[in-house]
Amino acid sequence: MAKQNNSCVFVLFFVLCFVNNSVYGLFDPDDLIVETPLGKLQGVDLGESYAFGGVPFGKPPVGPLRFNAPEPPEPWSGIHPANYFGIGCSQTCYEPSSACPTTIQEDCLYLNIWVPKTSSRTLPLEAAFGFLYLGDIFDPYTNTTSKHANYGMQDQQLAFKYVQDNIHLFGGDPNMVTVSGQSAGAQSIGLHLLSNESEPLFQQTYMISNPYGLPYKNPKDATKLAEYFAEAIGCPPLDITCFREKEEAEVLAASKSAQSNIINPLELFQYFEQWNPTVGEGEYPEEPVMAYEEGNFQRKPTMAGSVTKKDEPMYTECSVTRYHGGCIVYYFDF
Ligand SMILES: *[C@@H]1O[C@H](CO)[C@@H](O)[C@H](O)[C@H]1NC(C)=O
Ligand SMILES: *[C@@H]1O[C@H](CO)[C@@H](O)[C@H](O)[C@H]1NC(C)=O
Repeated sequence: MAKQNNSCVFVLFFVLCFVNNSVYGLFDPDDLIVETPLGKLQGVDLGESYAFGGVPFGKPPVGPLRFNAPEPPEPWSGIHPANYFGIGCSQTCYEPSSACPTTIQEDCLYLNIWVPKTSSRTLPLEAAFGFLYLGDIFDPYTNTTSKHANYGMQDQQLAFKYVQDNIHLFGGDPNMVTVSGQSAGAQSIGLHLLSNESEPLFQQTYMISNPYGLPYKNPKDATKLAEYFAEAIGCPPLDITCFREKEEAEVLAASKSAQSNIINPLELFQYFEQWNPTVGEGEYPEEPVMAYEEGNFQRKPTMAGSVTKKDEPMYTECSVTRYHGGCIVYYFDF
């Protein structure tokens, strides 16, 4: 546990799709254009694989969509160049700089899709301003009172849905999807295994270093944290309209300032991962560790373990690929 650190605030995880080897014929290697229901994407040839980077799977979560459920992207006309990688979500990165995104922006709901010429592929992504908890509040954007919680998990679900709907166009099999994550990413996977919304979206998982036993924030404590956030950003508590009017940098600064408040010393995540999911109602009614103990989880092929030499392979892979959305961790200790 000592190795857990603040980078967990921003989720790092992967979707792996096993590919049949006959990707050829799905798209012409000369122009690398894939036609999706939303529009055309043009990928790049990386030698060992084809890649489609910066594939939009959600509307930019800005303006009224900040601190809101993500929405599917708008269709586009023409050809969207899918040749850029590494745009990170807005974050204060506590990792060595080689493992931090070089560019960050709030508009970050993009997938990177690799189509291997021979074996499997990975899709990393990160979640945006994902875990401010506001509970049931009126949202003047939608004119409804609804739950504002765990948008980060919803961002990931939208990405999983994108994979279900589109991955066949890239040679993947939507019935053979493995989701995986390390540390905070593994926590996400542990929660997806509890969520009825996530259930149809993947078939198997592996979790690396999921700190299972630690208690998550409950709605009451999460609301208190949101109050500290409101104070730091200069808004009345739970005033979602006011939160949306602030600059991205102000949101980041207020998150950083609010997270230093320990609301419940027994919720150990508060010492190193304040902005994590909230459980105890709705989609995640119980503490994950209790849900697993009681057998309330999806029975799917799963590997769980920790990583030996945890930092080393992770950072090496990150800096080698420079795909800062994620890293591949090779060393397991099961
Ligand atoms: C919400 O209500 C306001 C005021 O009545 C209206 O201007 C706005 O268009 C409504 N928004 C939606 C999404 O219905
Ligand atoms: C998930 O689905 C199961 C089976 O239908 C149901 O018993 C359970 O209450 C659902 N969980 C939530 C949190 O809605």
